[in-house]
Amino acid sequence: MIKLQNEGDIITIRARAREFTQLIGFSLNDQYRIDLCILELAHNVLLYAGEGTISLEIIHKGTTPGLQITCRDHGPGIVDCQQALIDGWSTRSSLGLGLPSIQRLTDDFRLNSSDGKGTTVVIQKWLEHKSN
Ligand SMILES: Nc1ncnc2c1ncn2[C@@H]1O[C@H](COP(=O)(O)OP(=O)(O)OP(=O)(O)O)[C@@H](O)[C@H]1O
Ligand SMILES: [Mg+2]
Repeated sequence: MIKLQNEGDIITIRARAREFTQLIGFSLNDQYRIDLCILELAHNVLLYAGEGTISLEIIHKGTTPGLQITCRDHGPGIVDCQQALIDGWSTRSSLGLGLPSIQRLTDDFRLNSSDGKGTTVVIQKWLEHKSN
């Protein structure tokens, strides 16, 4: 579990994630996809919650390895999680593409948040044997 309190921590987490994704054997494209997810998650934490944590875990489904990323904060939480997953929905007139993009780029996406109770996002990406 890595603490996420400033931009420097994002660099640390990205470097660690890169070690994991290379170890698992992800394609370069998937490494970039995972990196992008971490960036979006981490920026949301710093922006909306101030601080949080990110955990990286290698997981297995039969003989297929994958990476699970858990991002947690105890910030204000998201009032409407369904809305937050719609392209362009943002509370700060930003692009509102972070969470929907993460959902598209991963195999499994779970957003758990409620008003005032913080936010947890768990994503999984499995190694694809045939991908480029
Ligand atoms: N960790 C969080 N804590 C509280 N609210 C969050 C958190 N992450 C996202 N949100 C809320 O969900 C909305 C959508 O998030 P999303 O990342 O998709 O878009 P954005 O951050 O507004 O813009 P973009 O990521 O495209 O720059 C945010 O505007 C914010 O209101
Ligand atoms: Mg965002």
